[in-house]
Amino acid sequence: MDLGIRGRTAIVCASSQGLGKACARALAEAGVSLVINGRNRTVLDRTANELRQATGADVTPVVADVSTAEGQAALLAACAAPDILINNNAGPPFRDFRQLDRQAMLTGVTMNMVTPIELIQKVIDSMAARGFGRIVNITSITVKMPLAGLDLSSGARAGLTAFVAGVARQYAHKNITINNLLPGSFDTQRLRLGFAAASRQSGIPESAAAAQAMAEIPAKRFGTPAEFGQTCAFLCSVHAAYLTGQNILLDGGAYPAAF
Ligand SMILES: NC(=O)c1ccc[n+]([C@@H]2O[C@H](COP(=O)([O-])OP(=O)(O)OC[C@H]3O[C@@H](n4cnc5c(N)ncnc54)[C@H](OP(=O)(O)O)[C@@H]3O)[C@@H](O)[C@H]2O)c1
Repeated sequence: MDLGIRGRTAIVCASSQGLGKACARALAEAGVSLVINGRNRTVLDRTANELRQATGADVTPVVADVSTAEGQAALLAACAAPDILINNNAGPPFRDFRQLDRQAMLTGVTMNMVTPIELIQKVIDSMAARGFGRIVNITSITVKMPLAGLDLSSGARAGLTAFVAGVARQYAHKNITINNLLPGSFDTQRLRLGFAAASRQSGIPESAAAAQAMAEIPAKRFGTPAEFGQTCAFLCSVHAAYLTGQNILLDGGAYPAAF
């Protein structure tokens, strides 16, 4: 399917690996020029080269911490008026909620709620002026289905979800859509690190922890980053212009409800 976005520009935050990288790849395949981002220069440059070679896309790597004002300024200096913004960031580490002090909570809320909102503030007027904008926030299944130890992640992302629900409706008539993609379990470094941590705590081997998690998913497997990226690219396409303010679960059926 031609997504109708060839020649458009995108900032894809936190995209040197994992889900962000997969979104960047799918957009590049659709002919979008990219700004990609991560804090580790070596990994980011390697990803930029890989994307250029695989897709022929114009790819600008920006080494920056997206949670900081300087990091956001660097991203916007590389592309002041993107047509597409993919908001992504690391999530807070697993932690018993009683161990979270005020600073840890503020940091989590900054990463997963304040940062994406700040970036939306910075790009939305130019999108409105051009009559085209696609914003996708990578959130989590934990917005709908709590997971012990990820309470801060769930809370911050739920805050973002409620915040952008109103903003999406304000800008729908400008052909700007804002949607949230909720990953269940995708085979990325973050997921693998989770099993490694679970294995250290429980003593069960990492492979057994992963197999147990997989068995609980109706699809009986983890999602692939490529599947996630292609869904993200569709949300950014011309065909998805009437789809806004939604929370789209990609979880192999893990969320056990009809609605
Ligand atoms: N994978 C899953 O199954 C799953 C499920 C639910 C939710 N999620 C959420 O989805 C998001 C992406 O997860 P993932 O699995 O793709 O993680 P990942 O494989 O660990 O990749 C994270 C990417 O973000 C970059 N990054 C992290 N912190 C950054 C920062 N402050 N500024 C700029 N770039 C940063 C990393 O590069 P550097 O480290 O070099 O900066 C890397 O490129 C996370 O918020 C995660 O919690 C994932």
